[in-house]
Amino acid sequence: MRHLLRTADLDPTELRELLDLSAAFRANPDLRPRALAGRTVVLYFTKPSTRTRLSTCAAVARLGGQAVIVGPAELQLGRGETIADTARVISRFASALVVRTFADADVQELAAHASIPIVNALTDGHHPLQSLADLMTLEQHCGPVDTLRVAWIGDGNNVAHSLMEAVALAGGTLMVGVPEGYGPDPAVLADARAIAARTGATIEVVHDPVEAVEGAHAVVTDVWLSMGDPDDQKARRLRDLAPFQVNADLLAHAREDVRFLHCLPAHRGEEVTAEVIDGPRSVVFDQAENRLHTVAAVLATLTSR
Ligand code: CP
Ligand code: NVA
Repeated sequence: MRHLLRTADLDPTELRELLDLSAAFRANPDLRPRALAGRTVVLYFTKPSTRTRLSTCAAVARLGGQAVIVGPAELQLGRGETIADTARVISRFASALVVRTFADADVQELAAHASIPIVNALTDGHHPLQSLADLMTLEQHCGPVDTLRVAWIGDGNNVAHSLMEAVALAGGTLMVGVPEGYGPDPAVLADARAIAARTGATIEVVHDPVEAVEGAHAVVTDVWLSMGDPDDQKARRLRDLAPFQVNADLLAHAREDVRFLHCLPAHRGEEVTAEVIDGPRSVVFDQAENRLHTVAAVLATLTSR
């Protein structure tokens, strides 16, 4: 594993090792390997970010390094320098490049020309760093993922894709409950199912939210309009996704000890009610904290190879 462009770049053993190292970081705040001492990690973000940007900066500091954050306005990339040249040049200065942008093809092109690890910090198709924190949170609150029934409810988006791949690698059951027309990318679904066939995982897509959450140990959702989705889709999305709101009535069909996860930022009253996200079953702030431990594990691991 040199790059982390999508969760399926990992194999089950690598995923386990990352989750174990993440748990060690969480258990022992004094554990500070000097993996990045004297080294620089560049963060290039073309979309807003609170958790990913700041958890990555904090993780780099924890590992003894220096994070440099740039956007399109700071780089010559924004004035037409090629992705390939940008990748080659940053590789001469930095130890890793963490990228949040739109097209998956752009991070693939960076990876093709870089000689340092490229880490996808969210694209239109994937959010691998989020999926690691999601699994870490499931293990923290619900138990080993291969014993769990997890429900994704709402839009079959980038975060859903990465969770599908993560659960497929870990060997659990993921029920993806989405309206017709909001399903995951069929190619990503096929890839996740190919992994699942080897690990014993189950990845199901259903169009009834109640069927999806029936007996679930955890229910996971995300916004209904992602960054990059056209604003003029908003009214249609709110209407079509309304039956997939995570509320107390829906959670009544899950296990009594069900946990609620959301990568954040959340829109209370849309994909989730305030009662649920601010209630006792919600573990969203542990999930947010786990972004720090998991990105630290990713950077320590990738930069040591
Ligand atoms: N969950 C997540 O990636 O949040 P940010 O957009 O704030 O980074
Ligand atoms: N699906 C959301 C996740 C934000 C962290 C988006 O892409 O905007």
